[in-house]
Amino acid sequence: MLTRVLKMGLKKPEKAKLQEAAMILKNGGLVAFPTETVYGLGANALNPKAVKKIFQAKGRPADNPLIIHIASMKELKPLVTHIPSSARKLMEKFWPGPLTLLFKKSAIVPKIATGGLSTVAVRMPAHKVACALIKAAKMPIAAPSANLSGTPSPTDASHVLHDFDGKIDMILDGGKTHIGLESTVIDMMTSPPTILRPGKISRGQIEKVIGGIAMHTHTKLQPDEIVKVKSPGMKYRHYAPKAKVILVDGSKSEKKKKINALITHYKKQGKKVAVMTLDKNHGYSADAVKYMGATHASIARRLFSTLRDLDHRSIDIILIETVPEKGLGAAIMNRLRRAAEE
Ligand code: TXA
Ligand code: MG
Repeated sequence: MLTRVLKMGLKKPEKAKLQEAAMILKNGGLVAFPTETVYGLGANALNPKAVKKIFQAKGRPADNPLIIHIASMKELKPLVTHIPSSARKLMEKFWPGPLTLLFKKSAIVPKIATGGLSTVAVRMPAHKVACALIKAAKMPIAAPSANLSGTPSPTDASHVLHDFDGKIDMILDGGKTHIGLESTVIDMMTSPPTILRPGKISRGQIEKVIGGIAMHTHTKLQPDEIVKVKSPGMKYRHYAPKAKVILVDGSKSEKKKKINALITHYKKQGKKVAVMTLDKNHGYSADAVKYMGATHASIARRLFSTLRDLDHRSIDIILIETVPEKGLGAAIMNRLRRAAEE
């Protein structure tokens, strides 16, 4: 299969290109597209055969459900049985935007899209190309992040092409994504609601709108615990580069000491070592050193592309400085911990 890449105008996505992409979706094919978080790998959410292709292309376990993307509020109702009032408040405040909400699914949502669950995750992206595509296709679009299962999410069309060249019909290229980490996922059916995956919309922002909520803390699960997992995506290896990831915490000077010791240790073993640092004037003598940025926003934007980049350089060990876990920092640390899991 030839994977076509179409460059999209961001202010005014070209109608003819959107029509081509919409036709592919109508015919049950796969189109990757940019959102404000990461690129998604889209299919007609209401066509089980099309949705199955997403799982096959990604190598995604069948019990890991997908997020369904919509472009207007009226598209939500047919997908769900009930909209709680707290969900309404969150949608009013944060949609379109990087917030995914869980609802009880209606009969029209195929089970394959929800990994066999009776719930469905829905979000309205805030990206011109994503919205225009959903509108042109006139259908809800099921889309996980457009990466091979387990690898870092794609924040640029080139990442999608790297993972899926020859395996999907089309990529809409909207350049680099703005946020760089996936949406916040929140289960609205628990009392209080529970954050299943932290993201750009922070716990504090959500609590300002609907009051106290719970945070699902991911810890490494034992096989016999897997049945109890709330969000099936949590149990699989995630965001992982090929290199071994080691997180380094402590004060600035403690981190420096630890990192220098680890560089020496692994170099002695003949390993290629990289460092992802918060210190612009680091002075580390590793094979690659990447400055992560001065703000949480810029760290988030670069995180996945840096991991991918280091993989292309055949790095064996990546030492990464931890960030304070406030606001977006919680989402960054969530991804880093998952990337560091064996
Ligand atoms: O920002 C995003 O959310 C991106 C863009 C493309 O929209 N999408 C994304 O999808 O990150 P994905 O499939 O990579 O992650 C979806 C997460 C998974 O952890 C999955 O287990 C969880 O949401 N999820 C989806 N439906 C669920 C459900 N019904 N119940 C519990 N968790 C669900
Ligand atoms: Mg993903």
